[in-house]
Amino acid sequence: MIVLGVESSCDDTGAAVLRDGRELSNVVASQEEVHGPYGGVVPELAARNHILHVVPVIERALDQAGVRLADIDGIAATRGPGLVGSLLVGLCTAKALARRLGVPFVGVNHIEGHLLSIALEADVERPFLGLVVSGGHSALYLARDDGSYAVLGQTRDDAAGEAFDKAAKLLGLGYPGGRAIEELARGGDAHAMRLPRPRVKGAALDMSFSGLKTALWQGVEAAPEMPLADVAASFQRAVVETLVEATRRAIGTTGATRIVVTGGVSANGALRDAMARLAEEEGATLLVPPLRRCTDNAAMIAYAGWLRLRRGESDPLSLNAVAELPLGPRFVPDQA
Ligand code: KG4
Ligand code: ZN
Repeated sequence: MIVLGVESSCDDTGAAVLRDGRELSNVVASQEEVHGPYGGVVPELAARNHILHVVPVIERALDQAGVRLADIDGIAATRGPGLVGSLLVGLCTAKALARRLGVPFVGVNHIEGHLLSIALEADVERPFLGLVVSGGHSALYLARDDGSYAVLGQTRDDAAGEAFDKAAKLLGLGYPGGRAIEELARGGDAHAMRLPRPRVKGAALDMSFSGLKTALWQGVEAAPEMPLADVAASFQRAVVETLVEATRRAIGTTGATRIVVTGGVSANGALRDAMARLAEEEGATLLVPPLRRCTDNAAMIAYAGWLRLRRGESDPLSLNAVAELPLGPRFVPDQA
């Protein structure tokens, strides 16, 4: 079965072609240069740029896969969560194409795509624990045996990537700033600045990053002579420890033995190292997809769509984009 996937939830336009769940092509057009000067994604500009990119990106994906439109058996597109103007571009293009070709269409939850990105690499047994950390998301999920998902915990304010980006802005490092902070932190003392590890009262698996950003600002004001490398390393350590401790508690709650970490922030070496240590301590297996599958892309969307399309499922062409689209209910521990 040949599936075309389309992704346009934020600022990257993606198209990918899979044959029986295996990637034939995975093309992404980035808008980093468009949004960089603004220090964050400008929704209006993102939607307009998706319009420019979506058809050429689909054509390139078909070309690279050596597949013609007539060969496509089904189409999957991201329906949420994300920026509505952005989502609508990919979703409407995918629906129009499905209608024109007379093939089934499915709308995919972007977060399910992230969690399944690992499945393009290796067979992953469920249940597994998934940490999705990007510029827009920081949340922990349980992917269950029956294909359903539960939300274990999520950020109450900024996403981890957003925290990196805001800290980078404060330190004058440009946007997006996660990579710049990591590079700067390499030569720094991660214990130089004392920063809080915010916990959310009454929800042990939820996270919070906005207080950290304020504390960083106050720390820099109080110690202007501190080398930037020390500041960056201390900040990175605080974010990484917050993510690792939430994941540790999630392992304790669920007893999961497989951990998947994905999203743009999973590029961070300190986070990968810390997660590897956590997995070892907890006797769990850590799975991190290669970076090109961790950041927003359409192969993960096509894969999630393929799981439904191959069962003969489809969505009506009236399916709408949804900005806030939960992947599942809150996790409730077994009463047994
Ligand atoms: O998944 P992604 O490419 O896009 C979405 O947000 O959907 O993630 C981008 C985020 C940005 O916030 C960026 O600063 C962060 O991932 N990031 C990093 C690193 N590389 C990218 N954060 C920390 N360390 C990195 N090496
Ligand atoms: Zn994403």
